[in-house]
Formats: sequence, C-alpha cells, structure tokens
Amino acid sequence: MKTLNLSAEELLSTTRAVRQRLDFGRHVSEELIRQCIEIALQAPTGGNTQGWHFVAVFDPERRSAIAELYRKGWAIYKEANGSVFDLARKTGAGTRRNQMVRVARSADYLAENLEKVPVLVIPCIPGRVEKMTGPAASVSIASVYGSILPATWSYMLAARNRGLGTCWTTVHLMHEEAVAEILGIPYAEITQCALIPTAYTLGTDFKPALRKPLDNVLHIDAW
Ligand SMILES: Cc1cc2nc3c(=O)[nH]c(=O)nc-3n(C[C@H](O)[C@H](O)[C@H](O)COP(=O)(O)O)c2cc1C
Repeated sequence: MKTLNLSAEELLSTTRAVRQRLDFGRHVSEELIRQCIEIALQAPTGGNTQGWHFVAVFDPERRSAIAELYRKGWAIYKEANGSVFDLARKTGAGTRRNQMVRVARSADYLAENLEKVPVLVIPCIPGRVEKMTGPAASVSIASVYGSILPATWSYMLAARNRGLGTCWTTVHLMHEEAVAEILGIPYAEITQCALIPTAYTLGTDFKPALRKPLDNVLHIDAW
C-alpha cells in the first residue's frame, strides 16, 4: 500500500474539500476504497453499535443519475441562498469573502462535473431522525449522526493519505429518497448522511486553510 507518509498533524490540517483538483481520468480501484473504509471502521459509534453502511458507487449510469439529483439539490440550495456571489457577499469582506467566492465557484464546478468523479461514497446509518421526537430526541439524533460522521471523516483522512481527494457534500439529501431508490437503500429505515466524491488528486500538495481565529471560538470554563 502506497501512502503519502504525512504526519498525523499534516494529515489533519491539509485534508481539504477537493473539487477542482479531482482527477476524473484516473481509475480508482475497489481495493483502495476498501482500505479507506477499513480504517473508517475504527471510528467510535454510540453503544458500539457499528450500524454503519457505506455505499461506494462506481457504476457510471448510477453516478450520472445521482449527479442529476445532486445538481437539482444544488440549484435549490443556490436559489435559497441567492446567487453564488450573493452567498459569498453575505459572509463579510476581504480575505474571508474571497475565500467564500472561491468555495462557491468550486462547488459549482463539482456540481457540473459530479458524474465524472470515479467513486461516490454514501455513508448510511439506521434510523430516521425526522421521526425522532420527545425529550430524548436530541440524544437520539446526536447518537445517530455521531455514529456515522466520525467514520466518514476517517474515510476522508484515509483517502487523503493514499493520494485521493474527497469533499463532504450534502445537497443530494434534498432528493434522498430518489437516490435511495437508485441504489436500493431501504429509505424508511436507513438515513444517508453525506455523499463523498472520491478521486485521485491532481498533485498531492494541500495547505492548511484560513479559519476563524481560535479565540473567537474557544471558551474556557464558560461561554
Ligand atoms: C456538513 C457539510 C456539508 C457540506 N455540503 C457541501 C455540499 O453539498 N457541496 C459542496 O460542494 N461542499 C459541501 N461541503 C464542503 C464545505 O464547503 C467545505 O468543507 C468547506 O468549504 C471547508 O473547505 P476546506 O476544508 O477545504 O477549507 C460541506 C461540508 C460539510 C462539513
């Protein structure tokens, strides 16, 4: 197995949302995806339930059908948030705005090209959060998502370590039931949590991103 030999801290701080540097032309083997999912299975789950499932879609017809639905979801998202540039403008000025414009452009590019990404990985978990009500609902919802999202991020880290790029995406969930039908996922019982396009990256050099300052978000002892 060939890895990039990144230190743990390099891996954690350079696993970017990759969209415009995905290599659509390079084959990704099932074996490589299996290795990344194997690592992901070391993540924690509530009560050690390990209810997770991962649907790795290689089939070009299914990828095209999912990409169509993703684009519809992306169009709805953009409509709700204004144009790409309105969206970016809403988020402050200067460097932060420039960053948001880049993210919006890059997200448009991914939506336009999603079917070209060699593998689409959809992490799934039993339960339907929209049915959860009552005083324990917040615990149940946190447990459902908390039992699949750490594994999903581990998958993305393992992928980066092997020269693959990924991007966390969610807008296909606006058409989750239709995607479930394409993939034979039992929608009534199983929640899809994300869609992770996965491809080799064009170059492997990625940098830490600009983030809000630590002191804006860290609260010691009280909010
Ligand atoms: C919960 C969540 C949902 C996201 N949904 C989408 C999406 O639907 N489409 C997309 O292109 N990017 C999506 N992203 C990616 C974010 O835009 C990206 O993580 C963010 O801009 C930070 O990127 P960076 O780590 O490369 O700086 C999502 C990320 C998260 C965590």
